Amino acid sequence: MNNNFWEKLKDEGRPILALAPMAGFTDIAFRQICADFGADVTYSEMASSTALFYNQKKLKNNETLKLLQWDKKREGKYVVQLFGATPEHFAVAAKIVSREIKPHGLDINFGCPVGKVIKQGAGAELMRNPKQAREVIKAVLSASSLPLAIKIRAKSGDVTAVEFMKNLSDLPIAALMIHGRSLAEGFNGIPDFSLVKKIRPFFKGVILMNGGIVDLVSAESSLDLSGADGLALARGALARPWLFQEIKEKKIIEYSQGQISNLLYRHAALLVKLKGESALVEWRKQACWYVQGLPGASKLRSLLVRVSTLEELKNILKNYDLND
Ligand SMILES: Cc1cc2nc3c(=O)[nH]c(=O)nc-3n(C[C@H](O)[C@H](O)[C@H](O)COP(=O)(O)O)c2cc1C
Repeated sequence: MNNNFWEKLKDEGRPILALAPMAGFTDIAFRQICADFGADVTYSEMASSTALFYNQKKLKNNETLKLLQWDKKREGKYVVQLFGATPEHFAVAAKIVSREIKPHGLDINFGCPVGKVIKQGAGAELMRNPKQAREVIKAVLSASSLPLAIKIRAKSGDVTAVEFMKNLSDLPIAALMIHGRSLAEGFNGIPDFSLVKKIRPFFKGVILMNGGIVDLVSAESSLDLSGADGLALARGALARPWLFQEIKEKKIIEYSQGQISNLLYRHAALLVKLKGESALVEWRKQACWYVQGLPGASKLRSLLVRVSTLEELKNILKNYDLND
């Protein structure tokens, strides 16, 4: 596979740094910011293969495709994540995304615990069903020549990550992101770092460790303990996208309140440029992550959750005098 950018990244030396998929957060603006700070690979928000399947004749102004837009010049390697449960839906969705969006790679979600996803037999529920999971992966592999990644949990129901991957050992999957917590653990708890070494003997692709990476110390210990080829940052990058730079440069970077304020504004301005001012409504929850731990954070948050124009945001930040 000569378009396997994962292998090329691996050859450039460890660690590969990825922004993990986060619905409602890893949009085009945040991905660009993370790429600026050193993310090698950024994942889209999860997109429904079923929605693409049922709208395959209505691709103009298609909401799912709009969600997946990206900027070739401003982003690094871009991976689109699909979720669903039906091989046929995945095959159609993979074809559409490969043709219309042209990302560097595709990914399949086997970890989502959200009720409405589980109910469709998708996400972590699909991991509980290895036979169906295998069919889904085969469908995507035959529908698209893009390198395929998958994202799994340490365990879903009775199915462990190790058994799940053994069942796929003959398939040319290019990369694996392991969220080292079980479905039962949800989003808390210490990830199982031993999984990478257990899976490595029968999985030849790139392995990224995910879960609980919130600073340079947790990043370095996650790499050392797991022996992974790289890391996937999720909530740790929301509050501080410069964590990518810290890991790359192996040094702690102190971001001043003024710099955080500037970054917050830059993020909003980029989003407005790309999607228009109405996108600020959805962005409000992202803004709240930036101000965690700042003096007066709760008052600032109460203002940010009502912001609807860039001018308003500028005034809020000016009045808070977050400069050094
Ligand atoms: C708000 C939010 C949205 C998420 N959306 C997705 C998603 O769309 N697809 C996915 O595979 N995982 C999703 N995740 C899971 C993350 O990618 C990641 O596996 C998880 O947060 C653990 O990493 P962390 O401890 O570094 O946050 C989401 C997590 C959060 C907090």
